[in-house]
Amino acid sequence: MSVLKWMNPNVDQIRPYEPGRPIEEVAREQGLDPDTVCKLASNENPLGVSRRARLAMRHVIEDMNRYPDGNAFYLRQKLAEHHDLAPNQLIFGAGSNELLEFVGHAFLGPERTAVCAAYAFIVYRLVAQMFGSKITEVKSRRRVHRLGAMAKAIRPDTSVVFVCNPNNPTGSLVRQAEVNRFMDHVPDDVLVVFDEPYAELCLGRMPDTIRFVREGRPNVLVLRSFSKAYGLAGLRIGYGLAAAPVIAALEKTRQPFNTTSMAQAAAIAAIDDRLFVARSRRLFRLARGLFERVCYDLNLDYQRTYANFMLINVGDGAKVTAKLAKEGIIVRPMAGYGLPQFIRISFGTMPENERLAAALTKLFKK
Ligand SMILES: Cc1ncc(COP(=O)(O)O)c(C=O)c1O
Repeated sequence: MSVLKWMNPNVDQIRPYEPGRPIEEVAREQGLDPDTVCKLASNENPLGVSRRARLAMRHVIEDMNRYPDGNAFYLRQKLAEHHDLAPNQLIFGAGSNELLEFVGHAFLGPERTAVCAAYAFIVYRLVAQMFGSKITEVKSRRRVHRLGAMAKAIRPDTSVVFVCNPNNPTGSLVRQAEVNRFMDHVPDDVLVVFDEPYAELCLGRMPDTIRFVREGRPNVLVLRSFSKAYGLAGLRIGYGLAAAPVIAALEKTRQPFNTTSMAQAAAIAAIDDRLFVARSRRLFRLARGLFERVCYDLNLDYQRTYANFMLINVGDGAKVTAKLAKEGIIVRPMAGYGLPQFIRISFGTMPENERLAAALTKLFKK
């Protein structure tokens, strides 16, 4: 007899998310000095932490004996103003990932289904499974979301549609006109979650989905993150924007102190650090150019990306990931996404990018 007999069957069937491997783990395994290992596997910001955020964090260290403000009053005011919304149209999470879980708690369940695109962020499937919902993964065109087909996949029991833009892991972007057409076809009783953690560093024209919230659409939730453009992945802070009743529903599922006071202070400062975001975007544009040239030279198929990572078809993703690990470079194999021939590389600093480019050249130069 085991306590595991009591395990929730929805949870039991889940294959846990495999994040990018930590530097120390790969260094230990390969017998390398951790300082020589570079991680290009988790779409982080290689420029470090926004300077403004770092200063703000220093200021609040002494307050860490106190619980945070569970309602994140100052951050709420700041972002409400920033996005021209009312304070009750915002909710905060320990990363936007936690907000996806709130969506599951509040809007998914055994009698409901969800819709997302094939090759979209895997957490949508995990959250649907966790809450006993079926999820329809709509075939994409060359791994780009087909919003028209996603609208058509909505059934009477569909409660949530996840739209990941730019999409992780493909880097593909859906444009404003497609988004507008899609929204014309989605019924008001289906929640559309625009998951946009890469929005601020997008390398193309990012559609404005927050305007649906501003215009009073009752069924749009936009998720944003401080993990990517602002370099605060380790702090775990993200937010959602939606009509007040949707926010109120999600709030019922939130634990009282889910975001830390340090994360709140850092986020308030980071949102004004336009220079840091601009520098990050410049770097990612350069990196995209470099890897497109490398793939072209090596005759490797890749997907045009609009974010800080890129899918490259290397034939056998697991094998190439292992070979790169031996060189002290961590990338992500994509078999878990049904793309076993691909790796996903995250853009690093230019020296890191050039190191990866040289390693790929060594592996694939004929
Ligand atoms: C598409 C997408 N959504 C959500 C997340 C979660 O981001 P975070 O929880 O760090 O805000 C990620 C992280 O990589 C992502 O790629």
